[in-house]
Amino acid sequence: MPKIIMGIESSCDETGVGLVRLHDDGTVELLADEVASSVELHARYGGVVPEVASRAHLEAMVPTTRRAFASAGLEMSDVDAIAVTAGPGLAGALLVGVSAAKAYAAALDVPLYGVNHLAGHIAVDTLQHGPLPTPCLALLVSGGHTQLLRVEDIAGKITEIGSTVDDAAGEAYDKVARVLDLPYPGGPPIDKAAKEGDPGAIAFPRGMTGPRDPKFDFSFSGLKTAVARWVEGAEARGEEIPVADVAASFQEAVADVLTAKAIRAATESGIGTLVISGGVAANSRLSALAKERCEEAGIELRVPRPRLCTDNGAMIAALGAHVVAAGCAPSPLTISANPALPV
Ligand code: KG4
Ligand code: ZN
Repeated sequence: MPKIIMGIESSCDETGVGLVRLHDDGTVELLADEVASSVELHARYGGVVPEVASRAHLEAMVPTTRRAFASAGLEMSDVDAIAVTAGPGLAGALLVGVSAAKAYAAALDVPLYGVNHLAGHIAVDTLQHGPLPTPCLALLVSGGHTQLLRVEDIAGKITEIGSTVDDAAGEAYDKVARVLDLPYPGGPPIDKAAKEGDPGAIAFPRGMTGPRDPKFDFSFSGLKTAVARWVEGAEARGEEIPVADVAASFQEAVADVLTAKAIRAATESGIGTLVISGGVAANSRLSALAKERCEEAGIELRVPRPRLCTDNGAMIAALGAHVVAAGCAPSPLTISANPALPV
């Protein structure tokens, strides 16, 4: 019998409530995906302020839940299981979602599943492209994470094979945007500015690509500093900053390293499918370069649509559905948020 799974996300600055239907054949259908973002409250600080995010989650949780049920045409009593992001993320922000999920699960007398946010970013792809072939490789690129993950089983076995040693890719976008006087979050305005620029104009460094560097780890803080130094130098010489060229050259450096390492990891481990997800997966150059390089290497590329790539509740509902389908044991109602939950 098909099951309705509710997903709750509150790890950062997005309050997300998603609803999916798990069919008997294991496919998962998206029914509702409602998100309330506090991003505008954080914009003037240039980054997420944890306390502000927690309060915003508290205010948005119930209205977002109501909107999700209304848009799916369902009642809360239709829910068969609830999944919630248990980590990783901001402690106070996670707690709001976990507390709400516990209350809903207790009131509805349905099982509760505390799940991993990072696995959710991968699971969301099944809503758009169907079941994931395994093993597959996931490149997770967001404001908080930059990781290469080997997925044996979306409901269980995911292993990290590389990660950033300093800034996340999205964080680098946000910091470079600040240097260029572009708004926060920096990804979309840099992506837009780069379209008018020359990606070969400035040779910015490709971090962690030396012969002795770890093969599958990333570093973006040197790149961010190189962009800041370049802009300072131009300003000191009284030159006008060629924003489009700087944006395009920076973006090229990020996309080049991300795709080169992901494809090398897939090729070396004989994996035929690459999933790219997280907020930075919405980047036009990253997806174009990944497409080009995956085609050359004979790798199937899956990139969920931008709406599904950024934080949302549907990704948690989708992961919850896979966890339910796999017959995993529910979490106890005493479950707590874990800000450093490993994948
Ligand atoms: O996954 P996400 O919504 O939240 C986190 O879990 O962090 O990712 C947000 C990040 C931000 O750093 C934002 O600048 C970046 O994703 N981003 C982009 C684009 N759209 C969002 N980065 C590059 N290009 C984009 N088009
Ligand atoms: Zn995320």
